[in-house]
Amino acid sequence: MKSITLKPARALKGELTVPGDKSISHRSIMLGAIANGVTTVRGFLRGEDNMSTMHAFRAMGVRIDDDGETLAIHGRGLHGLQEPGDVLDCGNSGTTIRLITGLLSGQSFFSVVTGDQYLRKRPMKRVVEPLSRMGARISGRNQGGLAPLAINGGGLRAIDYDSPVSSAQIKSSIMLAGLYADGATTVREPSLSRDHSERMFRLFGASLESFENGVTVHGGAELNGQEVSVPGDISSAAFFIVAALITPDSELLIRNVGINPTRTGVLDILTEMGGSIQLLDQRELSGEPVADLLVRSSRLKGITISGSVVPRAIDEFPVVCVAAACAEGITSLRDAKELRVKETDRISAMATNLRALGVVVTETEDGMNISGAERISGGRVESFGDHRIAMSMAIAAQVATDAITIQDTECVATSFPTFFPLLEKVAEK
Ligand code: S3P
Repeated sequence: MKSITLKPARALKGELTVPGDKSISHRSIMLGAIANGVTTVRGFLRGEDNMSTMHAFRAMGVRIDDDGETLAIHGRGLHGLQEPGDVLDCGNSGTTIRLITGLLSGQSFFSVVTGDQYLRKRPMKRVVEPLSRMGARISGRNQGGLAPLAINGGGLRAIDYDSPVSSAQIKSSIMLAGLYADGATTVREPSLSRDHSERMFRLFGASLESFENGVTVHGGAELNGQEVSVPGDISSAAFFIVAALITPDSELLIRNVGINPTRTGVLDILTEMGGSIQLLDQRELSGEPVADLLVRSSRLKGITISGSVVPRAIDEFPVVCVAAACAEGITSLRDAKELRVKETDRISAMATNLRALGVVVTETEDGMNISGAERISGGRVESFGDHRIAMSMAIAAQVATDAITIQDTECVATSFPTFFPLLEKVAEK
């Protein structure tokens, strides 16, 4: 197991570009694979999670060329995927396994999906239950609640589904199955989760209508290959945004970041805490809004975070916790029970790590209270096998009074393989 020791920085300065958006990269392969014709993808994220998606589609007969810059996905049409000869390994990727299970539910062949030790503990009932209602025959460990999952698809009927959780993975899984269903499939959620699927379905020519908290997909429409440009991932940018805000004398320009409103909860939260984040040169890329972000060191204050902003910032809470630990006063997070079923239990992981650095944290069932500290001390912390926990602790290390050693950092490669070199580039020691 690799561990990394990081010393505090004097300041973070300069310009950087973060790698492509993970969610959009997954979807570009999935829709490209079932479209007619070739889809080209620029800015594709070559993290382990997205490579799991790529391998799975290659295993179903999809030719994907990669010249190191652009992917060319040779679409096989809505009904052209082949039965995979082996189990599809989704690695650590919740998005791969949940979305692909929806897509496989529409295929008239047999398939098995699984993942690593962390993914095999994460809840799958949330997709298995609605997909079974559509007519897919899915079995798995724990009565279909845990991977591996075995799927016999085909012959789907449309459903009208009220999801109990705001989750783009649930919504997208049902939407993908909906492409194969007889009729109009509707998914509603308590508050809107990221809408990259809706945007990309539209780009590829699917037939769908979005409304306030949901979407309706009409089955049977053929998709056409597209040229997709993937913006930088705001979830990756978030580490550098927080680093620049909490480290004195810092100024960072982060170029080409996706600012889809269903993803910008982190900007709203950090701005409310007093952070200086400017959006420059706002533009559009493949149906997604994009901007350059100029971030300057700021004095942060504690706030209460709850309600509909939570799904709009769902992946950024580990690093928001680091911002809270450096803010004046108490930050309270509520309505965030979903964090307990991410790559690890992120509430418990961040509470444990911040306490190890002298920060006062109390956990609640659906969130936590963090008392902003005068100082974060050095020490040893763990990743818990979760990329975002590892990277958040690397950001805490920029302002700690002493070095921080982070154990088990290989997981960073799942979403951001170039994270440590980029951090080194902008952190002045
Ligand atoms: C994702 C949805 C979110 C997010 C994950 C990516 C997606 O998961 O945490 O990193 O691409 O659809 P949930 O839908 O479980 O909230």
